[in-house]
Amino acid sequence: MMQPTITVIGSINMDLVTEADRRAGAGETILGKEFSTIPGGKGANQAVAAARLGGKVEMIGCVGGDAFGKELLRHLEAEGIILDNVRSITHSKTGIAAITLAEGDNSIIVVPGANNELTEEMIVQNEAVIANSDVVLVQLEIPLPTVVKAAELAHQHGVRVILNPAPMQQLPNKLIQYVDVITPNELEYGELMKNYSGDPNKLKEKLVITKGGKGTVCYDEGREVHVPGHQVDVVDTTGAGDSFNGGLAVQLAKGASLEESCRYANAVGALSVMKFGAQSGMPTDEEVRNLILKPLQ
Ligand code: RIB
Repeated sequence: MMQPTITVIGSINMDLVTEADRRAGAGETILGKEFSTIPGGKGANQAVAAARLGGKVEMIGCVGGDAFGKELLRHLEAEGIILDNVRSITHSKTGIAAITLAEGDNSIIVVPGANNELTEEMIVQNEAVIANSDVVLVQLEIPLPTVVKAAELAHQHGVRVILNPAPMQQLPNKLIQYVDVITPNELEYGELMKNYSGDPNKLKEKLVITKGGKGTVCYDEGREVHVPGHQVDVVDTTGAGDSFNGGLAVQLAKGASLEESCRYANAVGALSVMKFGAQSGMPTDEEVRNLILKPLQ
């Protein structure tokens, strides 16, 4: 197949990462060990993952008119991502994620800033880009009506839609109808099922549940399929889900089966957690194929 085209519609953040031995309690000040500013945002992370794996990636998103925004655009451009439809919003600040890495896990507060300026109108203006995609990939760090509009237009044009429901929120039933694949982690899966008022069997058919090193569960004509993961030495789990989604999008866009695509995406996620930072550890297609051929476990 020719190079698959993935359109990622989502957030672009600067990650402000503090490493410490433990988290500070309310009203407490502690000394941290290290501080870094690293490109992030679920949309941008997924775009970078898909581009490194060989996808032709078009991004639709917004940054602020500040220094972070300019730096993030330079970075995405260097990754080969098409940025014609990423807007710089002068009156807005670039989205940030305040991340604490402590006690072997991360905790994240996202301030969306310019990501909230990604409107339904912008999606409608980009209908042709959406219609010409093999896969449209969306997450929930931009306004929900924008996500719904993007999924609706893609669905109308027969373009496959992957929704990564993170950070989780209550989803309208029509969004679920428009999307083809939904990729919650175990926590998000619980919330999704609890809040969904439609037929749970119809929802299940679309699910790919990610379980970190334990692998993935997907459904094939009602049959539950477990796709094993990889046990690796974890350095930083930030962006693991994004790497998985980027890999899944590229494989589905190339026409691979859901199960094959999950196998590939599990390897992408595993490789990404072995390095520090959301995007720094995202692998190439060659690295992924090597891991699938020679698992580390
Ligand atoms: O999924 C990880 C991402 O979530 C981080 O890069 C951060 O920006 C937050 O959006």
